[in-house]
Amino acid sequence: MKMKLAVLPGDGIGPEVMDAAIRVLKTVLDNYGHEAVFENALIGGAAIDEAGTPLPEETLDICRRSDAILLGAVGGPKWDHNPASLRPEKGLLGIRKEMGLFANLRPVKAYAPLLNASPLKRERVENVDLVIVRELTGGLYFGRPSERRGPDGNEVIDTLAYTREEIERIIEKAFQLAQIRRKKLASVDKANVLESSRMWREIAEETAKKYPDVEVSHMLVDSTSMQLIANPGQFDVIVTENMFGDILSDEASVITGSLGMLPSASLRSDRFGMYEPVHGSAPDIAGQGKANPLGMVLSAALMLRYSFGLEKEAAAIEKAVDDVLQDGYCTGDLQVKNGKVVSTHELTDKLIEKLNNSE
Ligand code: NAI
Ligand code: MG
Repeated sequence: MKMKLAVLPGDGIGPEVMDAAIRVLKTVLDNYGHEAVFENALIGGAAIDEAGTPLPEETLDICRRSDAILLGAVGGPKWDHNPASLRPEKGLLGIRKEMGLFANLRPVKAYAPLLNASPLKRERVENVDLVIVRELTGGLYFGRPSERRGPDGNEVIDTLAYTREEIERIIEKAFQLAQIRRKKLASVDKANVLESSRMWREIAEETAKKYPDVEVSHMLVDSTSMQLIANPGQFDVIVTENMFGDILSDEASVITGSLGMLPSASLRSDRFGMYEPVHGSAPDIAGQGKANPLGMVLSAALMLRYSFGLEKEAAAIEKAVDDVLQDGYCTGDLQVKNGKVVSTHELTDKLIEKLNNSE
């Protein structure tokens, strides 16, 4: 297979973890006989410094002619006092919107050597392997009006708005994902209170008819947030509204206990997607070779799976991550028992060794 990839390293540790992911990706693509063309582009603070805007037109052009985007992280204290239009995160919001990425996927999976790092009891976390699918471009965060009103500005309003089409496409995406996983979908809403949730539930029920092999449950968001802690192992795919998903995915991210490990995918109805770690630019450790590259590396694995259907190749990367952790190699952020803390580059070397020896 041939693929065209847009590579947006961004700021802080972004370039360091991106370098790791590209090395791992090249290894696995080479081993399986695929070809990739990588085109680098600026985003965030790096783009502000070089091009005077967080999302240059050239970056968008490169993204539009690519099959998928790999993104590192953006932001840092250097740009914190910039006006709103010159903030790094503007680049991130802009690219999601321009590329029409409406589904944000965050997988959360337990890695045996990291179980001690979880704030939850080992037996609760052991078999966790779930994905949260968050609607990304509608719902409470985008509904209008959203403003202060009244003579003294002491009344406020936010709006949770969706169209049928917006709900249908995210629910469809979640069913498709459930189908290639363990075929369990939890549709999360607040249908006992919200009209938008009642339509959400209606659409989930209608869509379910097309996927008879997927077991669907409807859960209320408050109860789901409890269940995520009490029994996270019960979940396979969870699909939900923008703000509910924002909150639940942060909650779920602590189950396995390490920010540096978590990948994400932002998708739309075709196979195009943007893949990035959940963590930020970590200015406190940038440039020191301390960054954990695994969130970025696992994001590249998600890309192979979701944008290119390369399941074996994705699984090979995930297995290499597992094996390297089993061997006790880690970066400083990970609490691996008797772990050997190595640099970003060294950990990447270990991953590449595993990939080359297992095939
Ligand atoms: P952060 O995720 O960058 O860092 C939080 C803590 O986790 C820090 O102590 C950091 O050293 C550590 N950490 C994060 N990723 C790590 C990794 N891969 N390996 C080892 N340690 C890691 O979040 P923070 O500190 O709130 O934000 C820093 C900057 O990043 C801000 O400018 C923020 O706006 C930006 N940010 C960007 C995001 C993105 O690009 N998607 C997401 C979150 C924050
Ligand atoms: Mg959040």
